[in-house]
Amino acid sequence: MNTSQLLSPWIDSRKSSADNWSERQWCDHLTQLELALNLPKFCEKSAKAKIIGFGEISTILQFNEQPTWVFKRMPIFDSIVQAKEYQQRYCQYNQLLSQAGINIADGFEVVTDGNPVALYLIQQAFQSQQIGNRALHAAPLDKQKLIIGNIFQQIEKIFLFNQQSGNEFLLSCDGQVSNWAINESHVYYIDTSTPLYKKNGVEKLEYELLLKSTPRFMRGIIRRFFLKEVLERYYHKEQVYMDLIANLYKEKLVHLVPIAIKLANKNLKSDSNFDQVLNQNDVKNYYSRDKLIWRLFLALRKIDRWLHRYVWRKPYQYLLPDKIER
Ligand SMILES: Nc1ncnc2c1ncn2[C@@H]1O[C@H](COP(=O)(O)OP(=O)(O)OP(=O)(O)O)[C@@H](O)[C@H]1O
Ligand SMILES: [Mg+2]
Repeated sequence: MNTSQLLSPWIDSRKSSADNWSERQWCDHLTQLELALNLPKFCEKSAKAKIIGFGEISTILQFNEQPTWVFKRMPIFDSIVQAKEYQQRYCQYNQLLSQAGINIADGFEVVTDGNPVALYLIQQAFQSQQIGNRALHAAPLDKQKLIIGNIFQQIEKIFLFNQQSGNEFLLSCDGQVSNWAINESHVYYIDTSTPLYKKNGVEKLEYELLLKSTPRFMRGIIRRFFLKEVLERYYHKEQVYMDLIANLYKEKLVHLVPIAIKLANKNLKSDSNFDQVLNQNDVKNYYSRDKLIWRLFLALRKIDRWLHRYVWRKPYQYLLPDKIER
């Protein structure tokens, strides 16, 4: 089987800029790197890679040898088959985003066959100052408004696509500003690792897989009270806006909150499906609640890591941030 048969079809046309390794070579390379970095005990001082982002289920790495790519590592799978299924949904999600008119970063995926099986989503690296939150900090107010407006346009495109698909697809995104990259001419969605879409009303994201990055003793509670609420919010346009705007508090871009609310309300009012608009009080309350949830979540994951290391004496597969400034 040649490389192009192995790689997902949507990527074939886009991989031209990547090097000429076969999937097997990438797989061997990443499996070896995993071993060499000893990721469960990864230390930032490692000479070979740096962590550029922490997700709930993925860790974003940049290897010194391949500075033009970022590697999103997801170690949540029991088998290669399970990882490949996730990969397929990821590809369909990316394809749908493209159909909706959203620019996504160039990339490809590799499943490693070590222990654990990890799926690497590999993306063209943007410069750090091109990532939405950093770009906003560096820009003057006029440009900031433009950037926010541009991101909002992308959200509108996604929900318009949903309407036009006659509800066959319900597609969404995590709109927070750190999930977009901005260059002179385009906005790109980069947080594609969680395929947020439904087909004919059926959720395509496997909740249970996401739960694997959470402490075992908490899964029942998270499943019951938390997961559905957190994921379901992405299918409601006003909540995507709410989440994005509330996140501006975390990003220390507070002055943009009223501006963003005004812009979002303009979009919501022109859509006949919405009669409710956002206000600053609700956004503030939403942020306080969200902050609490994620702090608690990280604390529990740290307890779980401690249990793995010192009680069960098993490797802990996830990399956790020390402290997130909120
Ligand atoms: N292609 C890229 N180029 C440069 N930096 C990136 C790229 N992709 C991600 N990053 C950096 O890593 C951060 C987190 O990435 P991303 O949003 O994809 O994952 P996440 O939200 O942390 O993950 P998860 O979906 O698992 O919660 C980004 O905000 C950005 O700073
Ligand atoms: Mg993100």
